[in-house]
Amino acid sequence: MRGPAACGVVDAPPAGRAAGDAAVDPPPPPGGPVMAVADPLLVAEELEKEYRTGPEVVRVLRGVNLTLQAGEVVALVGASGIGKTTLLYILGALDRPTAGRVRFGGEDLFARSEAGLARFRRQEIGFVFQFYNLLGEMTALENAMLPALLLRKSAREARALAAEALQAVGVGDRLGHRPGELSGGEQQRVAIARALINEPRLILADEPTGNLDPKTSEVIYDLFLRLQAERGIAFLIATHNQELARKADRGYRLVDGHARPFDAQFHNLPDQVK
Ligand SMILES: Nc1ncnc2c1ncn2[C@@H]1O[C@H](COP(=O)(O)OP(=O)(O)O)[C@@H](O)[C@H]1O
Ligand SMILES: [Mg+2]
Repeated sequence: MRGPAACGVVDAPPAGRAAGDAAVDPPPPPGGPVMAVADPLLVAEELEKEYRTGPEVVRVLRGVNLTLQAGEVVALVGASGIGKTTLLYILGALDRPTAGRVRFGGEDLFARSEAGLARFRRQEIGFVFQFYNLLGEMTALENAMLPALLLRKSAREARALAAEALQAVGVGDRLGHRPGELSGGEQQRVAIARALINEPRLILADEPTGNLDPKTSEVIYDLFLRLQAERGIAFLIATHNQELARKADRGYRLVDGHARPFDAQFHNLPDQVK
């Protein structure tokens, strides 16, 4: 084994949260406390990623800057092969950037130990993939339970949470079905339940409707919007679907390794989605 996790070292608490901090805070101003401006949930700063295959170096991300606020839905568009999956994987700590930084809740994500990164993936985010990535031998209930078991919740609690999550996304009557016995839309709902089970603050979705028909795509997207409204979950959704991208609060387009923000009305969207 490699890294600090191998010797049982646990992460230090995040900077700025030490118990003694309260003693040096200034007193609240007269007239009551001022509402603090919320820090962004996630900030990517000058992210770079290059892949080396033999002598060849491909510079996919060349200084990506983006910000996600808590509870907002943000679309990520751009041509195939431009780097959307690469970016989502880095933001989800499934891969590391070549340079640059990701802050999550103000904390430098990649300064965490491997164990800390694993905890981030299990606890703070959910990932939804184009091809669902469900385990074929397991039932819907068992698939959705997995992340809770990885957080060392009891099987009994994990089962109850999974049943609740599957119910919430509309497949509460399919608990015992295996992926092969479910439609694409149902499989994606199971994957969304799996992403929800540990109550993440952010769901990263990589072309989540790329394999679904238009009607089912809309249903899945409306499910995301409902989860945003009801649970305050933020979403970053890579998509080629113009109609769905328009339903987001705002968006970024990946071009030449950079993320360009869209205006709120997506005026510049139409011919640039693909
Ligand atoms: N593991 C890898 N090794 C080498 N090149 C890669 C790897 N993953 C992705 N790439 C390349 O990086 C570019 C961006 O890929 P990707 O992030 O999958 O784009 P998108 O999701 O926008 O279609 C592509 O040119 C792809 O071939
Ligand atoms: Mg991709």
